[in-house]
Amino acid sequence: MVQPVPALPAAFPALHAPHASILKDGTRVLSRPAVRADLDEVNGLYRRCSAESRRARHLTHRSEIRPHEWERMVDVRKAITLLTATTTTPDEVIAMTNLIETDPPGCAELAVLVADAWQRRLGLGTCLVRYAASLAVLHGYSTLTAEVGATNTRMLAILRRLDTSVPQNTSSTVSITVPLPVRHAHHDEKQRR
Ligand SMILES: CC(C)(COP(=O)(O)OP(=O)(O)OC[C@H]1O[C@@H](n2cnc3c(N)ncnc32)[C@H](O)[C@@H]1OP(=O)(O)O)[C@@H](O)C(=O)NCCC(=O)NCCS
Repeated sequence: MVQPVPALPAAFPALHAPHASILKDGTRVLSRPAVRADLDEVNGLYRRCSAESRRARHLTHRSEIRPHEWERMVDVRKAITLLTATTTTPDEVIAMTNLIETDPPGCAELAVLVADAWQRRLGLGTCLVRYAASLAVLHGYSTLTAEVGATNTRMLAILRRLDTSVPQNTSSTVSITVPLPVRHAHHDEKQRR
């Protein structure tokens, strides 16, 4: 019988390679795993975001990421955090993507924050959600979840395209569950041959 691969606790080698994407206007961006020393850059992103965007990301008023939260976001045993910058201005973070392991086992919660100047129809949020979903599969997660504001049409549109049925909202937030394809050990074995 084919056994699903359990979630991988350690950072996967592929995760360390920056992931390149080209936005709809031709801008080249790289998304790389965050490290503990990146907190100032991340809070720079938060300062460049509107209060509305930060609220949409956290579903509450937020002005920054606190050190104890950051520790959790960069703990590679339970989280994957990606920072995105353009290839021309690599020091300015324009987006952060978080996958954080949650209960029950095999679930990872997804959240994305794109700086206001980079939002809307350039496709950055779409690229990041798709890449995060592929990383979640690679790490053996079976389910992606997201808590999204009921009026957040952009994020809901992105998630809808991940082969998920977005439930009708019954409150101010929508809880999304995306089943992920299971990575099978025998398939990986075949790939290696
Ligand atoms: C939600 C968010 C991640 C989306 O990222 P983005 O880069 O702005 O989105 P994209 O450019 O990929 O657009 C996604 C889709 O939303 C829809 N969309 C984009 N702009 C829109 C607008 N002005 N009006 C209505 N729909 C719009 C479209 O369907 C679009 O895709 P398409 O143009 O290919 O059809 C980003 O706006 C963001 O960070 N917002 C604040 C934080 C947040 O809401 N996070 C999500 C909660 S976890």
